Amino acid sequence: MTDRMLNALNEQINEEMFSSYLYLSMSAYFEDINLNGFANWMRVQAQEELAHAMKFFDFINERGGRVHLKTIADPKQEWASPIEAVEETLEHEKHISGCINNLVNIAIEEKDHATNNFLQWFISEQVEEEASADELLQQVKMTEGKGAGLFMIDKDLKGRTFVPPTAE
Ligand code: FEO
Repeated sequence: MTDRMLNALNEQINEEMFSSYLYLSMSAYFEDINLNGFANWMRVQAQEELAHAMKFFDFINERGGRVHLKTIADPKQEWASPIEAVEETLEHEKHISGCINNLVNIAIEEKDHATNNFLQWFISEQVEEEASADELLQQVKMTEGKGAGLFMIDKDLKGRTFVPPTAE
């Protein structure tokens, strides 16, 4: 693997770890305002991000590269409303999709077919990530911030469980 590819993959570990931190912070926010289903959804989201980071970690090791872990930035702690937090979730996922696309561009430029192949899992994953954040956002928007609707969604979100991504 070229240094350029390796550095970019190491950066992505940090992006995924930060994503995990951000959603864990959102989970704490939702716990604080007693929307425990939303808190659960965000907590599961945080676990998924950690699993994403570990997929990069394992891939770098498998290819004989050296993992370099960097400082994880402070995530935001407060949001003005549930809508704002979910909007930020969708925006963040779009940002991550951009990161993954950029990694694929680098893999192509570096003629690194193995890394390109590895990244295709993330291309599909990001389609799902954006779709689920968008679906939640549309649902939350429909409630117009009203308690009854929010509590119904909240009840639904309690059911989300963490399913580890299969190692392929
Ligand atoms: Fe690791 Fe939500 O993208």
